[in-house]
Amino acid sequence: MTRTVYVNGEYLPEGEATVSIFDRGFLMADAVYEVTSVLGGKLIDFDGHAVRLERSLKELDMQAPCSKEELLEIHRKLVELNGIEEGMIYLQVTRGSDGDRDFVFPSEDTKPTLVLFTQNKPGLANAPAAQEGIKVISIEDIRWGRRDIKTVQLLYPSMGKMMAKKAGADDAWMVEDGYVTEGTSNNAYFVKDGKIVTRPLSNDILHGITRKAVLRMAEEAQMEIEERLFTIEEAKDADEAFVTSASAFVMPVVEIDGATVGDGVPGRIAKRLREIYLDESMKAAI
Ligand code: PDD
Repeated sequence: MTRTVYVNGEYLPEGEATVSIFDRGFLMADAVYEVTSVLGGKLIDFDGHAVRLERSLKELDMQAPCSKEELLEIHRKLVELNGIEEGMIYLQVTRGSDGDRDFVFPSEDTKPTLVLFTQNKPGLANAPAAQEGIKVISIEDIRWGRRDIKTVQLLYPSMGKMMAKKAGADDAWMVEDGYVTEGTSNNAYFVKDGKIVTRPLSNDILHGITRKAVLRMAEEAQMEIEERLFTIEEAKDADEAFVTSASAFVMPVVEIDGATVGDGVPGRIAKRLREIYLDESMKAAI
């Protein structure tokens, strides 16, 4: 089945969808994005993603391409047209194109570009990686200073994943001034003596939609949470570790820089949080 994608008001077969070579998303990474997961044919935490998108656009003085209601309708239509039961929807908004290359932002009447496409991932909720846990390495965080804005500047995170792959690991945790910021495409946590530790929100990390939901659910389940800076050494020495994101949900981490975390198998708290998150998110999906 050919994938149907959305570009600026049109639903098209993927091979027919085009964006200008002058688009600022292409030339300047002048664009923001969201990834929303689909489980049971429904959207997980659409509202959270829509609110964060609004914030990213505002922080960059970028026009919203359409209303939240229209965005929901596009998401739903793409899920339906592509028969997605489990997978993701990628959304990108760019500052558009005024037909040339210029560092200065184009005039106000330049329309933003809106692109959405689906990724079909059968078995996403039962990913084998969640049974085994993943291995991470640590790398220096050399990204820009506004990581709270979800821009498409993903070259360094991509390089981080490649460094991990080369080292025989699955992902990388980034470290700045001696403290873990986040994973290349997820938020990072460790658990010690029953307490969940994660970095507090600031401009240094993405304000994960999954992070927010998981911390709320952990609190509701009477789990202890501490939001503070932490080092790789502390995480290595922890009882368990895990990451969260819209595409991985709660994913246990069993090895950091070659050192086994806890017993080297997914931890009790990470497994429980994954269960609770999947269960509650699917119930609330729209
Ligand atoms: N990544 N931190 C970074 C740097 C991320 O790129 C992501 C998401 C997260 C987790 O955010 P959320 O829970 O809202 O997905 C944290 C997406 C999934 C991606 O780039 O594919």
